[in-house]
Amino acid sequence: MLGSKKIGETKLDTFRRVGVRLGTLCGVFGILFVCLGAQCIGTQPPPPPDNPPGFENADAGSGGALYDEWWAVVDLTAPTTDHPLWAARPDQTSNTRTGAATWRCKECHGWDYKGVEGAYGSGSHRTGIAGIFGTTRSAQEIFDLIKTTHGYGAAGLADADILDLAKFVLEAQIDTDDIIDAGSKAFIGLANSGMGIFDANCAVCHGADGTQLLFDEGTVTLGGLADDNPWEVQHKIRFGQPGTAMPRQLVALTVPEVGDLGAYAQSLVDAPPPAGCTADADCAAGQVCTNGECVDEAGCTVDGDCAAGQVCTAGVCVAGGGGGGDVAAGLAFYTANGCAVCHGADATGGIGSNIQSESAASIFARLSGAETHAITVPGVTEQNTQDLEAWLSSL
Ligand code: HEC
Ligand code: HEC
Ligand code: HEC
Repeated sequence: MLGSKKIGETKLDTFRRVGVRLGTLCGVFGILFVCLGAQCIGTQPPPPPDNPPGFENADAGSGGALYDEWWAVVDLTAPTTDHPLWAARPDQTSNTRTGAATWRCKECHGWDYKGVEGAYGSGSHRTGIAGIFGTTRSAQEIFDLIKTTHGYGAAGLADADILDLAKFVLEAQIDTDDIIDAGSKAFIGLANSGMGIFDANCAVCHGADGTQLLFDEGTVTLGGLADDNPWEVQHKIRFGQPGTAMPRQLVALTVPEVGDLGAYAQSLVDAPPPAGCTADADCAAGQVCTNGECVDEAGCTVDGDCAAGQVCTAGVCVAGGGGGGDVAAGLAFYTANGCAVCHGADATGGIGSNIQSESAASIFARLSGAETHAITVPGVTEQNTQDLEAWLSSL
């Protein structure tokens, strides 16, 4: 009767009191009688289904991030059991993942949002489940589906998060075919324009050539990832990388600009730089492992060839430096290399730790790659890190 679920409970009760005949009349004439206080007025039928409360102000960008590893976005513990719909996936053999992975929306619906009709139509991610692109469901239906049918409410997501997800589903999905040629996996865009966008927004963390952060246990560069899975890359560009400092570009970049950026990313080198070393045994005969790189045992050519705390003098590593840092040069290096993005402008920390009292040797170890760190700075010298120490200790 007249879409009764759109009418609030009390109004419905009033309806019942007024009687079934009036209701039928309303249905026949398409007129809705709303009782406001004592006054009953006739109006046009209401617009189609009301959105769930809060939907208008929900954040599609956050919803897109939640489409990925949502537990990293909202700081929950990753699920350990399989998603309730996993056991019923039409294809039970291709995708053998279990546990948390089965809870990522993308695992069932794909990075192209097309499920079995898209990139996950074959291969080790195939589940046979349909996509969500072009869904005709209402915001309320999608909210209920995610919260209840899909079990995300019980799994710990708050209503606000589920509203964000519904907003993403309805308003921020794109047809990936607009910027990716599904057959060749090539981004459709102008690599030249993409270069400017990359240098301005990505190079600070990923390096000018996309090799500063490596994926899949250090085997894949950003360029390699863009070639291999352009659908994932477009999603990460638009919605960020959960649990990291990488910002989302949903608002800042248009969809064609994402295509340009992707095209440029695909032009970058695919192979990581030559592997470093952790012990002398990793190096060729006659070489030693110093600061993560194999160098000739005999000597050095630059300070970077020497152990932390040493400098290269006349081809030999000697203890040195010792307080020879330049405060201004240290600040300049800190700024130029984007350290502030993660450690804060005053080095008191943010994404990364407070590094105000770090020594040159410790900084060198991080930036040269000898010790694990979010970024490396190719060509960093002992002098650079002494300058940094001088600046940091001046704070
Ligand atoms: C374990 C697999 C699986 C996961 C994970 C999953 N879904 Fe689904 N989803 C399904 C299945 C199966 C259907 C179709 C079921 C149905 O129509 O009731 C579906 C249907 C949908 C639909 C309706 C599509 C339409 O055609 O109208 C939406 C929207 C949706 N899912 C969104 C999500 C979101 C958002 C997430 C993550 C928060 C998610 N799904 C996670 C399996 C999954
Ligand atoms: C503030 C630093 C920062 C900026 C700026 C940044 N990223 Fe990232 N990005 C990261 C980190 C950290 C990761 C996660 C690395 C990891 O998983 O080991 C990441 C991951 C990624 C991934 C996902 C890799 C995967 O595992 O799926 C892609 C794609 C990516 N970045 C592309 C870009 C592009 C393109 C830009 C510019 C629009 C950009 N990033 C800007 C820090 C950044
Ligand atoms: C993409 C984010 C990111 C950027 C950019 C970044 N760092 Fe870090 N850094 C981290 C994180 C996260 C940690 C803490 C985790 C770890 O130890 O790796 C860290 C740790 C460190 C440490 C060790 C501190 C300790 O508590 O042990 C030093 C030193 C450091 N960073 C220096 C730098 C310098 C100098 C720069 C700029 C050249 C820089 N970092 C740029 C994320 C970043």
